[in-house]
Amino acid sequence: MTKKPVIAIDGFSSTGKSSISKIIAKNLGLIHMDTGALYRGITYFALQNSINDDKSINIEKLLTDLPKINLEFQNVDGELQLFLNGKNINKEIRFPQVSDNVSQVAKEADVRNFLLKTQRDIAEKGGVIMDGRDIGTVVLPDADYKFFMTASQDERAKRRFLELELAGEKTDIETVKQNLITRDKIDSEREVSPLRQADDAILIDNTNINKEETIALILSYIKKF
Ligand code: DC
Repeated sequence: MTKKPVIAIDGFSSTGKSSISKIIAKNLGLIHMDTGALYRGITYFALQNSINDDKSINIEKLLTDLPKINLEFQNVDGELQLFLNGKNINKEIRFPQVSDNVSQVAKEADVRNFLLKTQRDIAEKGGVIMDGRDIGTVVLPDADYKFFMTASQDERAKRRFLELELAGEKTDIETVKQNLITRDKIDSEREVSPLRQADDAILIDNTNINKEETIALILSYIKKF
């Protein structure tokens, strides 16, 4: 049997990267790693341990605190869930306070370097689909397949709003859209590993296609292994 592939899926937030990657992983028998969860894990730690009096994140303190952080994915009912220093934080990393601060944390070079090894170690044996912002460009430049996902801001805001509503969060679509725009801007304009399409990545725009169609489109590019 040929080696299982390494697949990189990057793109804007709320394009369905993670949920789509999860299904593709199941379909192809690969491990799925949501790298955004790692940045969220660091942000969650910072909100607990490294904050200023005004409750904003003290980046300097966070950077000196990095060695105190141990992030690990563990298999819980067939799904990789994130543990911070032994505690399952899978739910907490989706809290709005984490979403509002994560781009700020993710633009720090020290944070990105800190997480690089964790990500590369997982991909080493192959058989993995990793989603994020810089997987095809920086983390796994030699990935067998690279995809870059996008969709219009209005469509993404609508999806995210429905997701939050379903989770019982009280918000409105305009706030959600503004949060997306701010995150897109910080992610794309940061100096270290900005969000951008790798030259050899396949562009997937799913503004007008649903989840199943997006999955079928991506699968159509992947050769049998
Ligand atoms: O995919 P997500 O929304 O869970 O990602 C959270 C944040 O983490 C996002 O604002 C950008 C950052 N991120 C990153 O910089 N690099 C990655 N590989 C994954 C996420």
